[in-house]
Amino acid sequence: DLYGDRPNSRGVEFGHAATLRRLAEGVRREEGPWHAAPLVDGQLLPGAMRELRDPATGRVIGTVTESAEAASRAMAAAHGFAPRWDRTPADERAATLERAADLLEAERDAFLALLAREGGKTLEDGVAEIREAADFLRFYANGARRLFRPEALPGPTGESNVLIRHGRGAWLCISPWNFPLAIFLGQVAAALAAGNAVVAKPAEQTPLVAARAVALLHRAGIPAGALHLVPGDGAVGAALVEHRHVAGVAFTGGTDTAWRINRALAAKDGPIVPLIAETGGINAMFVDATALPEQVADDVCASAFRSAGQRCSALRLLCVQEDVADRMLAMIAGAARELALGHPADPQTEIGPVIDAEARERLLAHIARMRGEAKVVLDGTAPEGGHFVAPHIFGIARPEHLREEVFGPILHVVRWRRDALRETLAGVAASGFALTLGVQSRNESFAREVLDAVPAGNSYVNRSMIGAVVGTQPFGGMGLSGTGPKAGGPDYLRRFALERVETVNT
Ligand code: NAD
Ligand code: ALA
Repeated sequence: DLYGDRPNSRGVEFGHAATLRRLAEGVRREEGPWHAAPLVDGQLLPGAMRELRDPATGRVIGTVTESAEAASRAMAAAHGFAPRWDRTPADERAATLERAADLLEAERDAFLALLAREGGKTLEDGVAEIREAADFLRFYANGARRLFRPEALPGPTGESNVLIRHGRGAWLCISPWNFPLAIFLGQVAAALAAGNAVVAKPAEQTPLVAARAVALLHRAGIPAGALHLVPGDGAVGAALVEHRHVAGVAFTGGTDTAWRINRALAAKDGPIVPLIAETGGINAMFVDATALPEQVADDVCASAFRSAGQRCSALRLLCVQEDVADRMLAMIAGAARELALGHPADPQTEIGPVIDAEARERLLAHIARMRGEAKVVLDGTAPEGGHFVAPHIFGIARPEHLREEVFGPILHVVRWRRDALRETLAGVAASGFALTLGVQSRNESFAREVLDAVPAGNSYVNRSMIGAVVGTQPFGGMGLSGTGPKAGGPDYLRRFALERVETVNT
């Protein structure tokens, strides 16, 4: 039983104005300034202080202390404690993670505030992220109970064969800023559930959410020696990867970074270190003439523009049948124009800021280039004063014209004719990314043709392409989009473990 007896975490009815107001008030009551620092063996370490700013207002919301020395101290501490945590019965490890899930739900307002102020998350995205994080904690807890008990294997009479799973040692978790809670906690929970001691390296943009999540895990009962936090940038991540005690790495982020980590691990002597890498995508949705236009408009806006397009699963390339393209695009552009940009903690906001000035500059440069090279379907201006980017839509001639993941609310559109569908499908597949894929059609054979032609880890037919649910839609890509196994899936925990078989002649 993959799921245990705990249902997925409960949501909030966002249609109720009063509920939204209550959430917003809860967030407003949570005042900073907040602080994060390296935490090794339960001790906060000193280092250089850096300010953190709200991406929507530019105001300072807190500080983070960073120290190059923390990396080696944390790895050594995790390596030393790992055998003890591995000997802790899996049931006990699981119960601790379940307590953490309960605490997380009880402290929702505090996490919502941090997700909004540090990560630019709208209330709706924040609630969804907290739910996903709680689901990961419970799902991996249940997995630990299921997988980490001795398993008798069939064999000849007179022999007993038993498979036993163990943690691998000091596991390094490196996470991105765009799911600073759910991905951060998901990686950490899986590694702990499997009996590893963990060094967690959050993204440099979001150490505050990470520090609060680590504190919560410790309060739930994770021993100080089993979980260490090392805030810092890519150079700190690289130093951790190089450390001789790393027994495994879970990484989520850009494909370029995954290559770098993979090369660094391959160049090391000593034990061969497994890497789980979940990376980006140039995700496409195919729409044919039988699709329902209102549904297409809704699902495209949710997939491409919600979360300011800052999901790895987000729609980047819409492929529409020529015959219906003008009508569909007019509806999509109309719906996108209605989306409210604003401060993420305001109840009416549907699109918050992008994460920082660098991300905004990169997106604005892409928009400027596309204005020169492509057909403008939707242009727009964003509010002043924060890192906002308005939704944009650009028509391009061929899928091959988009070869990089553009991580923001910018949609590219290709029109296809029936006699050139295969070429368009091949052009999308040729990117080498394979994360999410969407199809909008009432024609089952068309949907089948698309699903068979374009490889993707997660495909969605007649719905949006975001918001995979833990245990129900195990999530992750292939090729340039990742190594697998899927987060929130039946095989994830196994990759964090090593297996020993004991054969006894009875
Ligand atoms: P990023 O690759 O820049 O950074 C991710 C993490 O890696 C950060 O903690 C960073 O400090 C660290 N890092 C950077 N260089 C490193 C190095 N040389 N060695 C070790 N660590 C290093 O990615 P990002 O900008 O934080 O996140 C956005 C990317 O993440 C997008 O490409 C998005 O598609 C991807 N993503 C993928 C998934 C998925 O499940 N497939 C989920 C979320 C985000
Ligand atoms: N798991 C996230 C989603 O499905 C990235 O949108």
